[in-house]
Amino acid sequence: MTHSATQITYVVTPGGRLTGTVRVPGDKSISHRSVMFASLAEGISEVTGFLTGEDCFCTMKAFQQMGVQIERLGETHLRVHGVGLRGLKAPSAPLDMGNSGTAMRLMCGLLAGQPFASTLTGDASLSKRPMKRVIGPLAQMGAEIAAQEGRAPLVISPAKGGLKALRYASPVASAQVKSCVLLAGLYADGLTEVTEPEASRDHTERMLRAFGVAVEGRAGYAAVRGGQSLKATGIEVPADISSAAFFLVGAAIAPGSDVTLTEVGMNPTRVGIVTILKAMGASIEVSNQRLLGDEPVADLRVRGGALKGIAIGKDLVAAAIDEFPILFIAAACAEGETVVTGAEELRVKESDRIQTMVDGLVALGVCAVATPDGARITGGPVGGGTVDSHGDHRVAMSFAMAALRATAPITILDCLNVNTSFPGFAELARKAGLQLTVQG
Ligand code: S3P
Repeated sequence: MTHSATQITYVVTPGGRLTGTVRVPGDKSISHRSVMFASLAEGISEVTGFLTGEDCFCTMKAFQQMGVQIERLGETHLRVHGVGLRGLKAPSAPLDMGNSGTAMRLMCGLLAGQPFASTLTGDASLSKRPMKRVIGPLAQMGAEIAAQEGRAPLVISPAKGGLKALRYASPVASAQVKSCVLLAGLYADGLTEVTEPEASRDHTERMLRAFGVAVEGRAGYAAVRGGQSLKATGIEVPADISSAAFFLVGAAIAPGSDVTLTEVGMNPTRVGIVTILKAMGASIEVSNQRLLGDEPVADLRVRGGALKGIAIGKDLVAAAIDEFPILFIAAACAEGETVVTGAEELRVKESDRIQTMVDGLVALGVCAVATPDGARITGGPVGGGTVDSHGDHRVAMSFAMAALRATAPITILDCLNVNTSFPGFAELARKAGLQLTVQG
């Protein structure tokens, strides 16, 4: 909820630099999936490096409400007692997905295949986000989902006659849509296929395979045959590249910075931020490349230096979709103009990220213009001032990093939701050198 009684404001003193070695928390996308798939698996799975953010706790609670026993063996270590594909129990209350689009859309797919009814709810932001993109294909599979104007709450009833396999050509490159349809496909008769215009993140395909499910997958295509069971396994969650991104850009824009981010997830469908920052001239060294379970990881060393503005087109959008707020900050600190196109999906994230970011940049005196599918940002001096994050975690953390190059303090409103994806951000950023105070 935005503007609630428990409001958090960030005040960041201008200047400084980032140094040291930082291990950011676990990947959000992978953490959600680890609990979902371990719950549906046969046997006991353990998850290490789980993201203890509010979004992932929503997913965890939802499965507990459906009878799954989940033990917390340590801060980020879970033991999940899987109940099998058909072992979930009817929840006695609505399942609250909080701020999380991933949780709501993936859960929608797997709940559509259950023999019981369920209701998915979310916070003010999630209740505004488009759900027709999943209700549409699920309805084609025979799912029964009621929603007013395609928004949460979503009321899911058992599909009369069960789910049918679907060949779905998604109009958007969205891992949430793809994963939703694939999860419903596990409950359908036959082969369910999804194609998409650009390759979205493939964590679902990789992790289902780790749980013993045969999944076909390549860029822009994924398919699964229904009725396959999941077998318990161990999942090690890499550090979230989307959280590392704030430190990558913070260090890149602040002269004298030298930061090493360890065990960062480097899945090829997620590394757009590294590609883009390198194209802007950032100094990023990738080392210690290895596999952590089924996901590639590496250590990233980034040093401060001059950046230049570039054109970022549709081909780079999906692989950096959550990193545009912080990329807008990089653009504001670069020499020349950065033009982002093909990124209209940013308008339906936790906030309208094109508008929230452009409004914030303009409030700080940066020359930035919103376009329907992106923005034009001219690098130059960043002033101080007050910006409203509109309860968007990534917007809040982005403007916090902008202070490294600002000429006066930056105050950021509505920062409570940073806890959805990056618990401990303020402490970690302060340790690295950001002069951040949390108020409220
Ligand atoms: C996610 C997919 C992305 C991303 C989101 C997490 C996922 O959304 O923005 O934060 O875990 O599948 P879309 O797939 O809708 O672009």
